[in-house]
Amino acid sequence: MHDTNHVAVLDFGSQYTQLIVRRVRELGYFAKLYAIEDFPDIGKPGAIILSGGPKSTSEADAPDLDFEALKAFGVPVLGVCYGMQLLNIKFGGSVKASNRREYGPATLSPASCTGLYEGVSPASQVWMSHSDTVENLPECSVVLAANQHGTPVSLKWDDRFYGIQFHPEVTHSHEGNRILHNFLLTASGLEPFRIDDLKREIIDGIRAAVGTKQVVCGVSGGVDSTVLAVLLHEAGVNVRAIYVDHGLMRKNETEEVQNNFHRMGVKIETIDASERFLGALAGVADPEAKRKIIGELFIDTFWGAVGDAEMLAQGTLYPDVIESASNAKSKASKIKTHHNRVDRILELQAQGKVLEPLAELFKDEVRALGASLGIAHDILWRHPFPGPGLAVRCPGDITEEKLHIIRECDAIFIGKLKEHGWYEKVWQAYAGLIPVKTVGVKGDERSYEWSTNLRAVVSDDAMTADWVELPSQILRETSNRILNEVKGINRVLYDISTKPPASIEWE
Ligand code: XMP
Repeated sequence: MHDTNHVAVLDFGSQYTQLIVRRVRELGYFAKLYAIEDFPDIGKPGAIILSGGPKSTSEADAPDLDFEALKAFGVPVLGVCYGMQLLNIKFGGSVKASNRREYGPATLSPASCTGLYEGVSPASQVWMSHSDTVENLPECSVVLAANQHGTPVSLKWDDRFYGIQFHPEVTHSHEGNRILHNFLLTASGLEPFRIDDLKREIIDGIRAAVGTKQVVCGVSGGVDSTVLAVLLHEAGVNVRAIYVDHGLMRKNETEEVQNNFHRMGVKIETIDASERFLGALAGVADPEAKRKIIGELFIDTFWGAVGDAEMLAQGTLYPDVIESASNAKSKASKIKTHHNRVDRILELQAQGKVLEPLAELFKDEVRALGASLGIAHDILWRHPFPGPGLAVRCPGDITEEKLHIIRECDAIFIGKLKEHGWYEKVWQAYAGLIPVKTVGVKGDERSYEWSTNLRAVVSDDAMTADWVELPSQILRETSNRILNEVKGINRVLYDISTKPPASIEWE
């Protein structure tokens, strides 16, 4: 996809490299990340960006690239930090190694506010994170900008090779986007990327990959699997969309998912495995044991239904792909195995039986694609919901009674967020159960009942999260309704824990 006319970002190992891809896409051009080991196998890009990296160019194992191959692409190249230093060496200059790290803001003074710095203010804040600096500048080079000490921090070596010593992709570089944009404008062959073109391209790709085979996909009601199922449907291929109800869904959720798909004209098969799941979970209190039971039963149920399908489609997104790829290629320890990359699926992948049409997209792009497929706004903006469902919101053993209470509390809370226009301001929200009985008074009687915890967080990627300062009116109305309507709850608590150290879910 987008083999031509894209921006190739070569990864020299900076922690910000994925952000460069993000920024370029936000600017309206399609960008893809490539491991440096893959160079020059990067398709036919319209522009190339060399990322920063943790190494010094003087180290023996410093990453390198074939300069002749780079020049042969004939397209504009931007070197960021390490990328700039490497280009300076390639053009015949040198780099001064240093143990002292310059980290933080600097003031950028462009020599002229044209070209790469068109429209950039004369003293713009940029973000630095480097130790080495360019030293001898080759004759062909021109200094485009210096820092507040007069040190060159941006160079041009010939008409299409640019270098910057700062990180334009981080928000602390106030005009970083403009600089990136100016660079992309120098790439004459680069056209903005439009979601409708992408949709057509993906659908054509699905048709070509699937042909007359039968393809199976799992749907959960979440954004990614819904967009995937609708794409397969639009492509007109032979598809079975399977929804497993494990009995740990929210109030009316299964009916809602079924209705949503019905509304979109996409047929789904529902497997009601709730008895099987809840039976296996009865009396199990340990969080890890619960997760294991649910994970294994899910695989068993899903694959049991899939049978010997010829292809499996998954809604894997780009961040999952680059995370797995950079984990595999870097020496960094593997943080997590994504559920789309378990052994069974890797086996199928090796046989060419896995189709991942969303694997080049970020979440917001999947939403835009979903909107262009006519998927309703409320489906595309649903909060994330964990695979193990309400199990992770029900500490201790799971019973129907507890699940019922969680469903009722959650429905009231989410309803209130929607009513007050706060649902989409919050990244994820839910009500869970605290299975500890405390004393209260209901009517004229003493009550001895459980509590519910309300949680509402904002987050970018779920790795960190902050609790949301909801208007007290929402909390008050939610609490009143729960205390009046939900039997078994006499206390409502609001969770004000950040992640870390807490997690978003309770288990
Ligand atoms: P935590 O609780 O780890 O959650 O801060 C981060 C995000 O991941 C979701 N989550 C899960 N999703 N399977 C999933 O598919 C799981 O086992 C799981 N555990 C947590 C959680 O809802 C939040 O969005």
